[in-house]
Amino acid sequence: MNLAQKKGSHTAQCKIVITSNQGVRGGRIFDLKSTVDNAVKSCPSVRHVFVAKRTNESMPMGKLDISLDEVMVGQSPVCAPEPMDSEEMLFMLYTSGSTGKPKGIVHTQAGYLLYASLTHQYVFDYTPGDVFGCVADIGWITGHSYVVYGPLCNGATSVLFESTPVYPNPGRYWETVQRLRINQFYGAPTAIRLLLKYEENWVKKYDRSSLKTLASVGEPINHEAWEWFHNVVGDGRCPLVDTWWQTETGGVCIAPLPAEPGAEIRPAMAMRPFFGIQPALLGEKGQIITGNDVSGALCISKPWPGMARTIFGDHQRFVDAYFKPYQGQYFTGDGAYRTEDGYYQITGRMDDVINISGHRLGTAEIEDALDEHPDVPETAVIGIPHEIKGEVPFAFVVLKESATENQRAVVEEMRHLVATKIAKYAVPDHFLVVKRLPKTRSGKIMRRILRKVAMQDTSNLGDISTLDDPSVVSEIIEAHKRYRSHAAKK
Ligand code: PRX
Repeated sequence: MNLAQKKGSHTAQCKIVITSNQGVRGGRIFDLKSTVDNAVKSCPSVRHVFVAKRTNESMPMGKLDISLDEVMVGQSPVCAPEPMDSEEMLFMLYTSGSTGKPKGIVHTQAGYLLYASLTHQYVFDYTPGDVFGCVADIGWITGHSYVVYGPLCNGATSVLFESTPVYPNPGRYWETVQRLRINQFYGAPTAIRLLLKYEENWVKKYDRSSLKTLASVGEPINHEAWEWFHNVVGDGRCPLVDTWWQTETGGVCIAPLPAEPGAEIRPAMAMRPFFGIQPALLGEKGQIITGNDVSGALCISKPWPGMARTIFGDHQRFVDAYFKPYQGQYFTGDGAYRTEDGYYQITGRMDDVINISGHRLGTAEIEDALDEHPDVPETAVIGIPHEIKGEVPFAFVVLKESATENQRAVVEEMRHLVATKIAKYAVPDHFLVVKRLPKTRSGKIMRRILRKVAMQDTSNLGDISTLDDPSVVSEIIEAHKRYRSHAAKK
């Protein structure tokens, strides 16, 4: 079957949705069913909604709804395996790119499973009988590969974590490690940065002697977080591996192997490619950069089993996004530095994708949501560094003349739009209303300038001669100064 051309549609065309009546997280309860009900209204392809009862709250059941708990009673506990072609679709997962709608990344049966199980075994030093604790949300690729497919393929006991690191208190992770005797603990730097602000006793009072490997994923891990994770959580005795990979790569591509005899692990660095991965650094002119102590666009030169096969319904977009930027290479979207001794250190995204607490988001998606407001003709969103979340969105907003009196209300409405269209974490931390955006004569927004303004680093703005009207820059700097002094007074 040709997945890329299937149905000629660019969306999933799902027939069945599975949800819970409510979700429970960090002591709070969320109405999932009503969110699904609203979404399904605009999805004519959906025929059934299976509803699991997570809480005792009863929900009105509509025409499409089926109680999962009721239909499960009487089902056989055995499900005969179905033979599949190795290149059949296994799952599709949406992820963000720098432009347009999220992409439905397609992974297939054999290659993905092989890669998830092999990386699960080697990157985390898994041995049969270990209890594997990946605290990622199951709905993201990390949860797919290292809560579900990798561990289960290897017959591991896999921990399902359904809370936050600080509920009911900041000892939650380590209490879970003690109670379940977890051997491998895999988490995100954003959670570590949050936890290291609390007393060490929240870690120390729990028995962590079962821990064998610690691992980090999703964003660059800074030195302070790496050291705390290694020394306080792991008592300095467990290898801590920084694992670099993506939704598209299916499994870990760059990481040190903890069980490799005599191999060095350096703080805050993904270091070495996994078996079969051939990283390359590419220069601005598309040339392969050889030698060490060099930086460039991180590409992978040869295919590997776990790589995504297509974007569902849009193979051309797949080719354009990943294989066009550098001829003959898979382009990751990230930049990297190769150290003097040939190790890889990820330097961050090279496109308009930002990483908020490990959530990958295209700034264009936030802009699209903001632009839906009738009083907002134009916006530009950039990412700025944040101590705990890694990055947060900063929105520059142009309002219609008639709405300028009403700024506060419009900003509130924009917050609501982003929270409902995307998610709460995507709501910009800053909204700066400006008269116009800095654009080149060909109409392209010069985001570099916006980044410098937001970072208060305007002493050297670089070449602004291609701007349509360079006076816009001082206008925006002034607006930002007023914004800051207003924020300081609050
Ligand atoms: O920018 C890189 C960052 O997260 C991106 C992939 O995001 P996603 O597809 O949501 O998958 C996240 C979990 C695998 C990458 O392009 N990223 C991921 N891991 C690291 C990282 N950046 C630096 N260091 C990492 N270890």
